[in-house]
Amino acid sequence: MKASSPPDREAVRAALLAWYDRQARDLAWRVSPADRRAGVRGDPYRVWLSEVMLQQTTVPHATPYFIGFTQRWPTVSDLAAVEDGELMAAWAGLGYYARARNLLACARAVAGEHGGVFPDTEEGLRALPGVGAYTAAAVAAIAFDRAANVVDGNVERVMARLFAVETPLPDAKPELKALAGELVGDERPGDWAQALMDLGATVCKPKAPLCDRCPIAAWCAAYATGAPETYPRKTRKADRPRRHGVAYVLTRGDAVALVRRPPKGLLGGMLGLPTSDWRAEPFSDAEAVVAAPVPAPWRDFGAVEHVFTHFSLTLRVFVARADEDRADFVWTPREGLSALPSVFLKAARAAERLI
Ligand code: ADE
Repeated sequence: MKASSPPDREAVRAALLAWYDRQARDLAWRVSPADRRAGVRGDPYRVWLSEVMLQQTTVPHATPYFIGFTQRWPTVSDLAAVEDGELMAAWAGLGYYARARNLLACARAVAGEHGGVFPDTEEGLRALPGVGAYTAAAVAAIAFDRAANVVDGNVERVMARLFAVETPLPDAKPELKALAGELVGDERPGDWAQALMDLGATVCKPKAPLCDRCPIAAWCAAYATGAPETYPRKTRKADRPRRHGVAYVLTRGDAVALVRRPPKGLLGGMLGLPTSDWRAEPFSDAEAVVAAPVPAPWRDFGAVEHVFTHFSLTLRVFVARADEDRADFVWTPREGLSALPSVFLKAARAAERLI
């Protein structure tokens, strides 16, 4: 059955907003519904900063970063004046450094080209460097009370359940966004966006939704099916292809031979153990010895498994002692191996009895 608007859009909106008035989470960047009613407006800088941080991590993890950032840099112009390195250091632990670079580029654009004032429309925000559709909609709604359609993973889940959408994710995304858009209204758009986020985070949870506490269960088509947790439907991820390779642990005294990987491609530019090519067929013992970086009395030390985004790798581990000091390796003491990418660390640990 095709999903459609709930019969009573206004009733759904009123029920969720009333719940938000009672249950809104107290978050460091949030203007409470009571304060909003009293006319307090959010600071676009704080809204933007919180949204960028939250795309990356959870509310509990982001909160101390948000507090630290806004104490050190109370305005977007303060943030814009920070050296790249200082920002990167402050961002450490939030991961995904491209986002920190974009954050700084955006702060500098607002400070330099907009006099330190954020644009107040979705289109204006979207034109800032590093601001995507989600962030533009969220800032427009939460900071400027624009009727923007703010759709993240939580909101997609709420919509998939409310309308019992049978189309699996990710194909369902446009449909879920359109359904969410039908519920956006001119009244309290900022609170509406945050109410949906809170509902998704605290009640309409992914695995075990707490439907007995849900203010809109009466209109929820998935609840009516008796199995709301089975929404959103998902296409089963195609099994990752498997590849095979050999990693070589060549030791000399306390040191292990590493190589710098080519700049492009998987783990580009990182130090790693020397390896064979990674291919579809397993390596026999003889093939593993032939593919070794140097001739040596190679010994089989088993295999490790590693899952990359696009494939799974079975990596056989071969170990030998080097009897000459070869300059074409980066000889690294054992303590230095802990900085290796985890696939190599696993292989090195498999060889630990020897090294
Ligand atoms: N997740 C993403 N943005 C959020 C916000 N503004 N409040 C609560 N949770 C969020």
